Amino acid sequence: MALTLATRTTRIVASPTLQMAATVKAMKAKGIPVFDFAAGEPAQETPDIVKQAAQAAIQANFTKYTPVTGIDELKEAIIDTFRSTHGLDYEKSQILVSCGAKHTLYNFTQAFLEAGDEVIVPSPYWVSYPEQILLADATPVFLKTEESSAYAIDAASLEALITKKTKAIILNSPCNPTGSLYDRATLERVAELAIRHDLLVVSDEIYEHLVYDGHQHTSIASLSPEIASRTLVVNGVSKSYSMTGWRIGYAGGPKDLIAAMGHIQSQSTSNPASISQKAAVVAIREGQTFIDSMVQDLDIQRTTMVKGLNAIPGITCPTPRGAFYAFPNISSLMGRQHSKGIIRTPSDLAQYLLREGNVAGVAGEPFGSLEHIRFSYTPPMSVIKEGMERLAAAIHKLQ
Ligand SMILES: Cc1ncc(COP(=O)(O)O)c(C=O)c1O
Repeated sequence: MALTLATRTTRIVASPTLQMAATVKAMKAKGIPVFDFAAGEPAQETPDIVKQAAQAAIQANFTKYTPVTGIDELKEAIIDTFRSTHGLDYEKSQILVSCGAKHTLYNFTQAFLEAGDEVIVPSPYWVSYPEQILLADATPVFLKTEESSAYAIDAASLEALITKKTKAIILNSPCNPTGSLYDRATLERVAELAIRHDLLVVSDEIYEHLVYDGHQHTSIASLSPEIASRTLVVNGVSKSYSMTGWRIGYAGGPKDLIAAMGHIQSQSTSNPASISQKAAVVAIREGQTFIDSMVQDLDIQRTTMVKGLNAIPGITCPTPRGAFYAFPNISSLMGRQHSKGIIRTPSDLAQYLLREGNVAGVAGEPFGSLEHIRFSYTPPMSVIKEGMERLAAAIHKLQ
C-alpha cells in the first residue's frame, strides 16, 4: 500500500541532535570508540537521593495514573522554586507538569498557535522551536543574532520583525547552542516591546542553573507583574539534575494558557510518569548540592574545551556563559579538502570529524547557522582532552 502521510510530517525533520546521538550509540555498540560531544545531557549519574525517591515511589505502589497536570506535591515544589529563585508567585492552576520541557513547549504551540500566526525565534536557536511552530501550522520568524555581539538581541531588529501576525517570541537564556545569556537590560527592552505589541513571551529557562564566571540568570518574568502575566516560563529537571531520561518538564504562566495546554496533554499523553514526578520533587527540593558540584565540573570542562578549540588553526570559539555547549566558528574551514571530498557545510565537517577522528559534534545548520558546529562539554576531562587532540589532528589533515 502506498501510504499518504499528513503534509505536516513533510514540514519537519526528525531531531538532528537525537539522530547524531543514535549514530554515536550505534558506533559505540560496534566497539568503535567515539569522543562524543554531541549529546545534550550531563555525564553525571542522576543523584542518589532522586533514585531513592523513585524506588520508594515504586515500593509504595505509586504507579498509577496521577492528575493529568501533575501531582500537588510536585506543583508545590515548583511554585516554591519559582518563588525562591525569581520571586515569581504562581497558584497551582498556573503550573503544568509535562513529559519533559520539549513536551511542555509542544503543548504550548498546540494550545496557542494557529495557521498564519508568527513566532519570533532568535537565531541560532534550539532545533525544536521552529519544527514545533511548523507543526502547529504557524510560521517561525528568525531574528538573527551575531557572534560578535555575544548573540545579544537588538531591540530595534526585534521590533522590525513584529507584524500584526506576531503572537509570541521565544527566549532561551542560557542558550542552546550558543551558551549566551541575556542581561537584564536586554530583557527589559524585550519586555517593553512584548507589552507594547501585545505579545506572549515564552522563556525557556531549562539551563538556568548552569551559569559560570559569576554571571546571573534573570527570568524575564521576574521584571514586573505586567510581563509575568504574559510570559510562559518553561523549565524542567533534565539538565540541572541529570534526569534527561525521567521526562519531567514544567511551565508556569497565565491560567487560561496553562489550562488549555493541560487539555491538550489530557488528550495526548495524560500525566507524566508517576514515579518520575515523585523523583522530581526531591530533585527540585534537595538537589542544589548536586547542581553546585556539577557546575564546578562543567566550568573546568568548559575552559578546557574552549582553550582546546581556540588552539586549533581555523577555529575560533567564544567562551559560553551558560548551558553546556561550545559553539565554535568553523567558517574558515569551508572549502578545505580531504581524500573523499570538500568541506562545504558544517554538516560536511561534522561527518568528516566523525569518520576521521571519531569525534562527534552537531552541525550548525539545524540550529540556524552555516558557520558553527556544537560540541557539548559534558564528557569527563579525559575525553575532552583526547577529543580535542583528535579534532586538531583531523583538522590538520585538511588541505
Ligand atoms: C533549550 C532546550 N529546551 C528544552 C529542551 C528539552 O528538554 P527536556 O525535554 O529533556 O526537558 C532542551 C533539550 O535539549 C533544550 O536544549
